[in-house]
Amino acid sequence: MPVINRIADFAPEMTQWRRHLHAHPELLFDCHETAAFVVERLREFGVDEIHEGLATSGVIALIKGQGDGPVVGLRADMDALPILEATGAEYTSTVEGKMHACGHDGHTTMLLGAAKYLTETRNFRGTVALIFQPAEEGGGGAGVMVEEGVLETFGIDEVYALHTMPGAPVGDFHTCPGPIMAAADTFNITITGVGGHGAMPHEAVDPIVAACAMVDAIQTIVSRNSDAYKQLVISVTQIHSGSADNIVPESAWLQGTVRTFDKGVQQMVMRRLAEVVAGIGATYGLKTELGYEEGYPATYNEAHRTAFAAEVAAEIGGTVVDDAEPTMGAEDFSYFLEKRPGAYLFLGNGDTANLHHPEFNFDDTAAPYGASFFARLVERLSPIS
Ligand code: NI
Repeated sequence: MPVINRIADFAPEMTQWRRHLHAHPELLFDCHETAAFVVERLREFGVDEIHEGLATSGVIALIKGQGDGPVVGLRADMDALPILEATGAEYTSTVEGKMHACGHDGHTTMLLGAAKYLTETRNFRGTVALIFQPAEEGGGGAGVMVEEGVLETFGIDEVYALHTMPGAPVGDFHTCPGPIMAAADTFNITITGVGGHGAMPHEAVDPIVAACAMVDAIQTIVSRNSDAYKQLVISVTQIHSGSADNIVPESAWLQGTVRTFDKGVQQMVMRRLAEVVAGIGATYGLKTELGYEEGYPATYNEAHRTAFAAEVAAEIGGTVVDDAEPTMGAEDFSYFLEKRPGAYLFLGNGDTANLHHPEFNFDDTAAPYGASFFARLVERLSPIS
């Protein structure tokens, strides 16, 4: 079955919204103009309540259906990225160095499209909570909203979100039950030795040799300490030290990322990193300091809601893959899914450059699929009769 007819009717209007948003990207929590645009549209549609200023520039709007029923949270992220756009599109970013390279302009448009349809038709029971969120690309706007208590304030019972997916045909949906995206943590290590002459290393304590040993040893946390059936990535992504060929530097600094699906694996990594860093420090006789910052948690799809969402997607979309491979990327919708059951799905965006690439281009023909998915999800979840 194709997209909802009424939504197909106003698809050209959605394209205009999307291109306006694309031309005016904003970063992190500073999504004020985007939010103002969203609020203007929501007022035109006639939603029942609009709440602004959540997580700085987020918006939550309510649409009431006919009679009692659950409160369904539908989420779109609104923020862009610090990238210099290279699409050459007519609607290219008007702000140099900022670009919607992750399709959040499209996500916002899809949710607006669903809002327009649902306010017109109200062919459902209960309430829809439209969640327009800033700061997905760092900052964890979803986590801030959860801390502000939006789930309790608005009585949200379950939550759903979509993300655009380059490489899959437009209208195809990909999802899976259980973890679909990883937890993303950051660690950094400071190694302090004793500086000296490069020709007399015995008079110095060399942090570079220790740093190399640490990078090697850290790889064994994946290969020797972790169950092969439980996904784990540890990448050391930065090493900084030294200033000349004849100087043993005094210190070295390393940074990296840890990606996990399982809390137990994450705990093991935290413990082993501490042991490896301290152990190598002792072996080489220098001081070490380990910083570990837990980032976005794993994005966990509840099995029944995911199966239901896949059924809805099959009604309005193309091919639906309901056992897709999870990705080691991360997503802050996970904060909502930690507190409420729901599902996160990818929506095909055709053949374009990948997410976060300066040539990524959102396909406007995908937006009616996303809007129809959200709208039909609500109608199927709490039908009137
Ligand atoms: Ni994104």
